[in-house]
Amino acid sequence: MAHEETAGTALVTGASSGIGAEYAVRLARRGHDLVLVARRADRLEALAGRLREEAGVAVEPVVADLAHSADLARIAERASADDVALLVNNAGINGYGPFAEVDAGLLAKVIAVNVTAPTILTRAAVPGMLARGRGAVVNVASLLAFAGDLPPGPLPHRAVYGGTKGYVVAFTRTLAAELAGAPVRVQVVCPGLTATEFHLGTGEAPVPGEARVHGDGGMLAADVVTASLAALETGEVVCVPGLTDADAVARLADAELALRGGSGTTLAPRYGDAERAHE
Ligand SMILES: NC(=O)c1ccc[n+]([C@@H]2O[C@H](COP(=O)([O-])OP(=O)(O)OC[C@H]3O[C@@H](n4cnc5c(N)ncnc54)[C@H](OP(=O)(O)O)[C@@H]3O)[C@@H](O)[C@H]2O)c1
Repeated sequence: MAHEETAGTALVTGASSGIGAEYAVRLARRGHDLVLVARRADRLEALAGRLREEAGVAVEPVVADLAHSADLARIAERASADDVALLVNNAGINGYGPFAEVDAGLLAKVIAVNVTAPTILTRAAVPGMLARGRGAVVNVASLLAFAGDLPPGPLPHRAVYGGTKGYVVAFTRTLAAELAGAPVRVQVVCPGLTATEFHLGTGEAPVPGEARVHGDGGMLAADVVTASLAALETGEVVCVPGLTDADAVARLADAELALRGGSGTTLAPRYGDAERAHE
């Protein structure tokens, strides 16, 4: 049964495969009408047909490239409509490659899809949700947001991807704090390696052919979505599907608070000492 806070239409980006398609299936089963966004029309149409038949919900497949500003504006318009009670910003691409070699246009696309699109769609959806007194936004980030230069090594060439997901985490946590007490829930879900099409390409173009998963293994997309939907009900802002030690998120906040000790007006001695060594 649909959760009271999120009943209504769910708009899911990146719904043509992987985690996004799984959100669509699960939300349809909960009785949500759906708006499904991605570039591959055939995949969207097939999923829409299946969900109308299986779940009896209304499904609008909307073909759009979220890296194109006109398409993004069209989806933002749809996200701002009165029926939208849940926005799932799931579409994402990796643009992996050695930073000095990867095409700069592809990196711009990674930022457009992973950062600009979720920001603009959230901005479109939230005012109406606040006015209507209900709604939720789920942003799909990645555990690579927290990885920096951590293993596994050799580093997958991911500086920009990691940066975009770091943005999604900081954006969502900060917005959640701003909306604390408001009737709109905001969540960032941080999957680890997940068995989808994600690693079959860079995201420059859609993965062609039949639905399949990459050969790197990983958590089932269904489990990622189970965690996310459960966390929506409990109000958990940072959802890490594979994390048993849930207190690790609180410890991260403690570490951040310690870093905030650096927001004072006095220069840390080690920098002053280094400067004096040059005098
Ligand atoms: N798989 C992992 O290991 C993993 C781990 C952590 C986080 N994530 C995150 O999970 C999210 C979903 O990825 P996934 O693993 O499910 O991979 P996926 O199967 O490749 O799904 C990505 C989705 O995004 C859509 N998309 C890509 N570029 C788009 C664009 N320009 N405009 C509109 N839609 C676009 C794709 O559809 P079209 O190609 O049809 O447009 C597809 O539906 C992403 O944000 C990813 O960063 C994945």
